[in-house]
Formats: sequence, C-alpha cells, structure tokens
Amino acid sequence: MAMLMETRLLSRRIQDFRSLTPRRNRVKEKWAATRPKYPPTRLALQHCDATYSAQLGSLWPSVRVALLSERKYGALVNNFSYETVLANLQAQGCRDFISDIHTEAQSCLQEPKVGADEELSGVSMKTSFSASQQHSTLQLSPNIKCVVFPRGDITRFKPARPDMYGLLGYYLMDAASVLPCLALDVQEGHSVLDLCAAPGGKSLVLLQTQAIRFLCVNDVSASRTLRLKRVLNSYVPRQFLTDDILRITSFDGTKWGEVERNTFDRVLVDVPCTTDRHSLMEDDNNIFSKSRTAERRRLPQLQLELLLAGIEAACPGGEIVYSTCTLSQIQNLSVVEQAVYLARENHGIQLEVVNLRPLTHMFRKTFHFAPDLQLGEMVVPHLAANFGPIYMCKLKRLT
Ligand SMILES: C[S@@+](CC[C@H](N)C(=O)[O-])C[C@H]1O[C@@H](n2cnc3c(N)ncnc32)[C@H](O)[C@@H]1O
Repeated sequence: MAMLMETRLLSRRIQDFRSLTPRRNRVKEKWAATRPKYPPTRLALQHCDATYSAQLGSLWPSVRVALLSERKYGALVNNFSYETVLANLQAQGCRDFISDIHTEAQSCLQEPKVGADEELSGVSMKTSFSASQQHSTLQLSPNIKCVVFPRGDITRFKPARPDMYGLLGYYLMDAASVLPCLALDVQEGHSVLDLCAAPGGKSLVLLQTQAIRFLCVNDVSASRTLRLKRVLNSYVPRQFLTDDILRITSFDGTKWGEVERNTFDRVLVDVPCTTDRHSLMEDDNNIFSKSRTAERRRLPQLQLELLLAGIEAACPGGEIVYSTCTLSQIQNLSVVEQAVYLARENHGIQLEVVNLRPLTHMFRKTFHFAPDLQLGEMVVPHLAANFGPIYMCKLKRLT
C-alpha cells in the first residue's frame, strides 16, 4: 500500500514538472524513430566476422576481442620540445620500444632470418608478378622515440603539455603506426613525399628523424589538411616549417604521378581504408554506414590508384611504403600485387618487394604480427598488446 502511494506521488510530481516546463522546451523522445535499424558498427562487425574468420581462421576470435576492447596508445616523443619528455614518461613506467631493441636490432640486420627466404620465394611463386625480394638493410633513426606502457598494462597517457614555446611534448598515436615510418628508412638528405598525410601522425614521426632535406605532405581533404597544419604548428618549430623544407599541399594524390614523376627518395602511401577499429567502435563518420556503401566499395580502386601514383612519384632506386589500418586482404595484399603488375605493364617500372621480416623480428616483443603473410607484414591486435591493425609493404623501384 505504501509503495503504491509512493508511485502515485512520484507520477504526480512528474506531471507537475511537465506542466511547469513550456511545451516548446520539452524534449521529445524520438531516438527510436531516427536511430538506424542496423547501426554502422553492427554492419562492420557482420562484415568483419564474415571476411576475417575466413582470412585469419583460428586467429580471428582473439583478434576480434582485442578489436572490440580499448586500444592501446603510444606516445611519440617530440624531440623539438624543450621539456624533458622522455625522462618524465619513463618515470611513469613507460619504455621506448624503439631504443630498447637498438642493440638487438643491429645484430638482427646482419643475420639472415630463419625461414625468411623460404617464405619470400613463396611470395614470388604465389603472386602473379616476378618481384624479387630484397633483404632490408634499414638503419633505425636514433631520433625516433615512441614510448608505451608495458605489455598488459592499460594505463592511459595524460594529455601532452606545451613547453615554454608552446610546443607539445608528445603525440598520442597507435604505436604500430610508427612501423611504416621506420620501414621507410629515411636517410640524411632525402626528399620525402607523404601522399595521404592528414592528420599528420606519420609526418611527425618522419620529421623526428631530423634527416629529411625536403618533406612534402599532402592530403586531398581541405579540412583534414587544416588539421595537419595545426598538428605541425603544435609540434614543430617555425624554422622547420619553411617552404624550402616543408611543402603542404591538398591535391588528389591519384594524380600526383601526372605532375611530379621520378622525384622522391622515399614515398609513404598511407591510404584511406575501412579503418577496422574505428568502424567497429564508433557510429560517427563510419564507412559502413549505408550512405557510404559506394565509397567503401570503391576503396580498393582508390588505394590502387594512390599506390601507383606514389610509385611514379618515387625516383628510380627510391623506396615506397604502402600502409593501411585494416586487416582486409583486398585492401592490402591484393592492392600491392596489382600495383606491382600495373606499374610494370603500364609504366615500365620494375619493382622489388623489400623483406620487412628483420624489422618485425626486432619488434616481436612489443607487437603481434600476422604469421605467414604472403606479401608485406601486419600488426594484429591482441589483448595484451592492443595495437593495430597496421599493414605495411615496402617496394623498391629498380627502374
Ligand atoms: C589513413 S589516413 C592518413 C593518416 C596519416 N598518414 C597519419 O598518419 O596521420 C588517409 C588519408 O587519405 C586522405 N585521402 C583520401 N583520398 C585521397 C586522395 N585521393 N589523395 C590524397 N589523400 C587522400 C584522407 O583525407 C585521409 O586523411
């Protein structure tokens, strides 16, 4: 009886409150009518389940759990900052996963990797082009530092603070995104093109090397190019942002080869893709939303055109790294295969696939790599090291 009285009292109070609120200010509950029946995240999960269970087999359930869990970040240390950033981060329990392996790395580079040759000859046989494999002789820049919390530790980084000149001390990014930049192997005096650069995480990594003579950063999206400029201004001192060192453009990258061919020592082609992690976790700006189906289906063709343009933009002897943040074979391996074939057939450019196994071997304690990939290397998400997915493949222009 007492409970019934209480309920009545409560409902009367709500009615009183409603009558006090002017009708125009009342919030109409219409979420049920406007919410899509199938949210993009759900469509993405259905797509991933269907595609990746076939592609990854028994690995998929554990990758799926990791993809649906909170991702782990790395903090790219900004060498241009006047703060003692690295020491502060180390005091919080982080470690620089790049310098940690430096000594080990050099010995790795000198030894041929067990099984690498067998696997690589497999690549040439399995794929339709005759790209021979080259062992990577890359030298890791001692200036690129990226810290992570230890394996299994999911502590979040605090936001970076500006130093006395307003430059931020570190940039938070998926630590695996540093790998394509390390694979690019930028050397002193190189000219470098970052074809799809916004918001600028990888451009920042490349600038940390302090070895680049000229860097061109490009992104077709005007709004994202603005974001890229803001990022560069927040991390890089003005004297490094002059036109003779850094060029910021907003062209359609697929057309790059038409205007600037055979030019750059290094080209990074970090293409738009289905961004698996974002697509599974965020409904906003999701490529799996119904209205973006055509755009999503066109991605492999766009990726192919961008990679071909990047290949053309590199000079003979130059090197190109193709990267994505999807596990999709159609957006990764198939794009590279077709690009190598079309570069030869349509443009007379011979390419060699560079073996990145020595690089992945160095970082095997920090990241989980997909086993037995026929072409390129891929970081797969794992609950104890929840980075990636990041796919990368390196090509060298022979002609
Ligand atoms: C994966 S994001 C690049 C991320 C960036 N490299 C980084 O590390 O911060 C892909 C970018 O490609 C850009 N893009 C899409 N189509 C393009 C095109 N035709 N030419 C150049 N950029 C393009 C998108 O605007 C997007 O910013």
